[in-house]
Amino acid sequence: MLRRPRRNRKSQAVRSAIAETYIGEQHMIMPLFLVLGSGIKDQIASLPMAYRWSLDTMMNEIGECLLLGIDKFIIFPAIPEDLKDKTATYSYDPDNFYLQAATKIKEKYPTVCLISDVAMDPYSSDGHDGLVRDGKIVNDETLPILAKMAVAQAEAGFDIIGPSDMMDGRVEIIRLALDAAGYTDTSIMSYTAKYASALYGPFRDALDSVPKVGDKKTYQMDPSNINEALIEAQLDMEEGADFIMIKPALHYLDVIRELKTSFSMPTVAYHVSGECAMLYAACANGWLDRKKMVPETLLSIRRAGADLVISYFAKEFAESLH
Ligand code: PBG
Repeated sequence: MLRRPRRNRKSQAVRSAIAETYIGEQHMIMPLFLVLGSGIKDQIASLPMAYRWSLDTMMNEIGECLLLGIDKFIIFPAIPEDLKDKTATYSYDPDNFYLQAATKIKEKYPTVCLISDVAMDPYSSDGHDGLVRDGKIVNDETLPILAKMAVAQAEAGFDIIGPSDMMDGRVEIIRLALDAAGYTDTSIMSYTAKYASALYGPFRDALDSVPKVGDKKTYQMDPSNINEALIEAQLDMEEGADFIMIKPALHYLDVIRELKTSFSMPTVAYHVSGECAMLYAACANGWLDRKKMVPETLLSIRRAGADLVISYFAKEFAESLH
C-alpha cells in the first residue's frame, strides 16, 4: 500500500499537527437567564445545567466565566406576568430590569461583550415574537416596536443586538434606528435561519414564554427547507447584519455549512436548550460520557462552519480546557 491514512493518526503529536478544527473559549457565547430579585440561583428543571439568576448572582457567574476566558454573554430576561402586555411596552421602559442589568454589568466588567435578545415574546401577554391581531402575527406593525427595543438596549450598553423574532425587514429597521440614535458601533447578530423547532421547549420553560395560542410556524422556518435560509441570509446581509445565526445547531449542520460557504459572513450557531437537555439527560443516565461528549459536540458545530457557538455548556467546556 502506497497510501496509508493511518500513518497520520499514529500519535497525538501527529494528530494534533494535522487537526483542521480548533475550538476554544474565544468561540463560545454563554447564555444566561435573568430574573428580578436578589440572591437567586434557580435551577431550570428541563435544562439542569442552566439557572435563572438575579443580577447579583449573575455578576458572580460572569466573573467566574471571565476567569475561564469566556467574555461573550447572551442574556434573556424572565419577565413577571404583570409586566407583560399586548405591545411589549416594558421592553423599552427605562425602569426595565433587563436594561438596567446590562448597564450595571458593563460598569463592573467593561471588557465583556453583551448580546441582547430582540423579540416581543418575553414581554408579550400573547407570548408571540410579534404583535398579535385577530389571531395573526402582524409583521410591519411589529417592526417599530423591535426598533425601539433595540435602541433602548444599545442605550443600556449592549454591544450586540440579537433580533430573534424572524419578522421580515427587522434587521434594516433596527440598523437605521440604531444609526439615527448615534449607535453606529452597536452590532447586529441576526437570527437568520431560526427554525420552528421543538427543541426550544426547555428555554420556554425557563422564561415561561410559551405562546398562549397557536405556534410560531408563520414566522420561524420550516425544518424541511434550506433554500429559505439562503434567502434570509442574503436579506440579512443586505440589511446590515454583522453576524448571521443558524438555530438549532446539531440538527441543522448542513444549513451552517451552506450559509458559511455561500456568504462568508461571521456565522453563529445556537446549540439550543433542547439539544443541551438531550445531551445532559443521556450523560446523567450514564449512557454517554459528558467529559467527551461536550467537546466533541461543540467541535462538530465549529467544523460545520460556525465561527461562534452559543451553548449552555460554554462554561463547563471552558472549565474542561483549564
Ligand atoms: C425567543 C427565543 C427563543 C430562543 C431564543 N430566543 C425561543 C422561541 O423562539 O420560542 C430559544 C433558545 C433555546 O431553546 O435555547 N425569541
